[in-house]
Parts: sequence; C-alpha cells; structure tokens
Amino acid sequence: MAKRNIVKLGDEMLSKVSRPVEKFDGRLHQLLDDMKETMYAADGCGLAAVQVGILRRVCVVDTGDGPIELVNPVIKGKSGHQEEAEGCLSLPGVSGVTDRPMRVIVEAQDRYGNTIIVKGEGLKARALCHEIDHLNGILFTSHVIRNCEE
Ligand code: NI
Repeated sequence: MAKRNIVKLGDEMLSKVSRPVEKFDGRLHQLLDDMKETMYAADGCGLAAVQVGILRRVCVVDTGDGPIELVNPVIKGKSGHQEEAEGCLSLPGVSGVTDRPMRVIVEAQDRYGNTIIVKGEGLKARALCHEIDHLNGILFTSHVIRNCEE
C-alpha cells in the first residue's frame, strides 16, 4: 500500500464527473488500498478517488465501524434531515453546517464487482452523501446552510 497525495481546492479536477469502474482488477484493489491508507493517515472519515487524482467512481468511508469500499455507488433512498458541521480533506481549514438526509440507502459494488447495499444514519449518511457528491464534481460547500458556531 502507499499513501497518495490529496488534491486540494483550486484544482479543477475536483469539479469533474468521475467515470464508472468497469474492470474489477488488481489496479482497482491497489487504488482502494491506497485510498484507505491515505484516508486514515489524514484522519478523515471518507475519501473519493478524484481526491487522489483518479476520475473513477470509487470511494471509501469509515465512520467508526470499519472501512467500507464503494465502487459505482448510487443513492437509492434517503429520509429525514440533519444539520451538522462538515469538512473535507481537500478543503483544509474550511467547514460549515450542511443540510443532509439523516438516513440513506446506497447500492454499490464491492472490489470484486458484487452488488452491495450500505445503509447509513447520522454521520455515516453524511459521509456517504459527501463522497458520492465528489464523484459528481460536487463539494460540500454547495450544501452549506450556515457557518459553524464559533
Ligand atoms: Ni470531501
């Protein structure tokens, strides 16, 4: 495994739409391993492939119950609302309160191409929405409804 550099705000890469993964090969597995290492090293709870310069629909999330690898993820259902502080490894020092669904159901593929269903509530729902947004070139700042409390 190897840690990769995180793309930062100002890089036009972050506003691009990522392409679907078609090959579930060793290269994808290496990418996922590197993304997890990069996420943990940066003390983040999620990372999208575009953030390490790869425009593929891949992200990793770990909100405390272990790593989840998501390939070609799609939000299938959402309910409720939450307003919580949010940040991004690509926007160091930037934070804001976002409006996100409280619960989401995501359909994705694992690293072997098998279909998986991931349910998230609270922080996990927020992280899933945040990372899937990255795959569509959307940053959390577009969901900010107010500044964080001082
Ligand atoms: Ni982010």
